Amino acid sequence: MTFDFDTILDRRGTGSVKWDIPAMKLGAPEAIPMWVADMDFAAPPAVREALARRVSHGAFGYPSDPVSVREAAVDWQKTRFGWEIRPEWLSYAPGIVPALYACVRAFSRPGDGVIIQTPVYPPFFSAVEASGRWLVRNSLRFESGRWTMDFDDLRRRIDDRIKLIILCSPHNPMGRVWTEEELRRLAEICLERNLVVVADEIHGDLVFRGHRHMPFATLGPEVTARTVTLIAPSKTFNVAGLAASLAVIENRVLREGFRKEFADIGWELPNIFGLVAMEAAYRGGGSWLEALLEYLEAGADLLQRFFDERLRPLRFYKPEGTYLGLVDGRGLGLSPAGWNDFLLRKARVYLNDGAMFGTETEGFARLNFACPHSVLREALERIERALGGLR
Ligand SMILES: Cc1ncc(COP(=O)(O)O)c(C=O)c1O
Repeated sequence: MTFDFDTILDRRGTGSVKWDIPAMKLGAPEAIPMWVADMDFAAPPAVREALARRVSHGAFGYPSDPVSVREAAVDWQKTRFGWEIRPEWLSYAPGIVPALYACVRAFSRPGDGVIIQTPVYPPFFSAVEASGRWLVRNSLRFESGRWTMDFDDLRRRIDDRIKLIILCSPHNPMGRVWTEEELRRLAEICLERNLVVVADEIHGDLVFRGHRHMPFATLGPEVTARTVTLIAPSKTFNVAGLAASLAVIENRVLREGFRKEFADIGWELPNIFGLVAMEAAYRGGGSWLEALLEYLEAGADLLQRFFDERLRPLRFYKPEGTYLGLVDGRGLGLSPAGWNDFLLRKARVYLNDGAMFGTETEGFARLNFACPHSVLREALERIERALGGLR
């Protein structure tokens, strides 16, 4: 079966934050939105058909907790990653962000330290700070166009007050897919220092050829026992608006701690459409995902070539997974405001300001390339014309 990622799907007027913000808040309706991490593609046919069937049924009362949804998630982890989990290890969350907040509250106390590896997805900062925990940054290193973990710095930063580390795997914003060796070194430190690990693996399905996503919890029984893995069909199948995510927790004490956070606010289950989409995606979305990954990687290659050949001194670093990549704008020598103005007002493309992920990526921007290749080419040509205007 072939899938069409080339046709432009007009998302204007559909209540899409990605399309509404440039038009309604930034006064830039003509800007191509390449920021927030959702895709300009329709969800897989299997998902749309399952949702359509559910809509046509007509009754939308309170959902139950169907075992078939849990089993679909269990089978997905086994088929894609060889990870054998059990249905009872799963807990629902309305999203990975609320799950991150819940983890910080469940597994640390006010004043305790929580480590994040910056630059990283901004809610990692807010989940820690909003709960009155001490935010400890372990900066990634950027050398020769590649981001790596700084294990020496990590070891130095851990003291008795630190209870938790939040891992982003694969890592947003630069799309690193951590290797088994990197994850093993990290696991060794977490075991040595008795840290609970929250592994945000929302991008785990989105990995390009030559790379492999290894669920952190699969590194051995001791690691499984201290890891809370957050997964969802949301990024993979473009169903983030349906708000259904999962935490995989083998350890009963950690699992109960996680569940208590949601029980305490009276939240129990995602809505029925989220559950239907999750089951359909995990059961029937595999071949669509393979096609998507090829298309995304071809888009990343297109970006890499265009930046290298026509957009110097800007640099683009092809990610190893996700549909997000960093553009390094520092070669232009603009101020932070000038760099953002260049992209939005001169080039008329809307990317995320690199500074929002940490000081390490000031002067960068994060580009979401989950859109038809024709849109990528148009965006690149706009940047090229804007660069011409600077010369
Ligand atoms: C690493 C990471 N975690 C979580 C999320 C968002 O998760 P959710 O929409 O389920 O809250 C994103 C979205 O970009 C992300 O990149």
